[in-house]
Amino acid sequence: MPTAVSRDFLALEGLDGPEITTWLDAAEAMVPFAAGDRFLPHPLPLAGRVVANLFFEDSTRTRVSFEIAGKRLGAEITNLSSAGSSASKGETLLDTARNIEAMGVDAIVVRSGVSGAAAMLARHLDCPIVNAGDGRHEHPTQGLLDLLSLRKHLGAIAGRRIAIVGDIANSRVARSVTHGLVALGAEAVLVGPPTLVDPSLERLAKGPGRISVGHDLDAVLPTVDAVMTLRIQLERAAGSGISSDYRSSYGLTAARRDRMRENCAILHPGPVNRGIEIDDDVADDPRRSLILRQVTHGVAVRMAVLRACVLG
Ligand code: NCD
Repeated sequence: MPTAVSRDFLALEGLDGPEITTWLDAAEAMVPFAAGDRFLPHPLPLAGRVVANLFFEDSTRTRVSFEIAGKRLGAEITNLSSAGSSASKGETLLDTARNIEAMGVDAIVVRSGVSGAAAMLARHLDCPIVNAGDGRHEHPTQGLLDLLSLRKHLGAIAGRRIAIVGDIANSRVARSVTHGLVALGAEAVLVGPPTLVDPSLERLAKGPGRISVGHDLDAVLPTVDAVMTLRIQLERAAGSGISSDYRSSYGLTAARRDRMRENCAILHPGPVNRGIEIDDDVADDPRRSLILRQVTHGVAVRMAVLRACVLG
């Protein structure tokens, strides 16, 4: 298990290439168990442990993925969302989390619309905190599952060119995966409208890899090994800066798929706005689309992270 990390898992920023590789190796070892092809030997590593899922923002994949990951390791999972909890009565996130900790949980997984929320809880609480997405900041388990999907498809990440397309400014997914790509020696090519992709993003991450910024998707497509497209973050950007012809410039259409290299991988973190950022034919491409494999790898990543954080 990775040793260079604390018992919290908050961000990919600050991890170096070997640390990220250690996480990817731990996650890859979990893939057969995540997919249900094999079962871990009894007693399960987290038998008798309790993990609390605190989700203060809508989620399907990430919440269920943490829940299944915990169950496959033998943990009990308790789910709390803002609707139906005392958050709707004005209780702060910190007070809610302190109360959950006082009930003796072994880890708290938190999703919040506020950037920095997970780190704030980690400063105040003793139990391990896992960031399941905080505002526009980071979504580190999503970053790892994207990297694992890329590594399994491409064989290696160092030296590869990976396009990340869309609403980069508002995307915690783009931030996490960019930190990971640069740490592993790849080039992250950030592509989108000038309002959402600004040249200062070239300094987002440090490492042996690099970041480039562009606005012309059609020019970039034939030059990359993978294209990760993002959901337009209507709840964060309130649509600002997203023109009605987004699809014509940045949508992954069937015509654009034909401009990609033969083995180019297509990724999307979900939820997918079909017909806006990606068309059906592309999302469901049986050979190049990794979208459902990303979801399976997400369970494996979360198994590795929960095991390391709870068992220390
Ligand atoms: C992402 C998220 O919530 O940050 N989805 C996910 O976790 N799979 C991306 C998004 O909402 O666009």
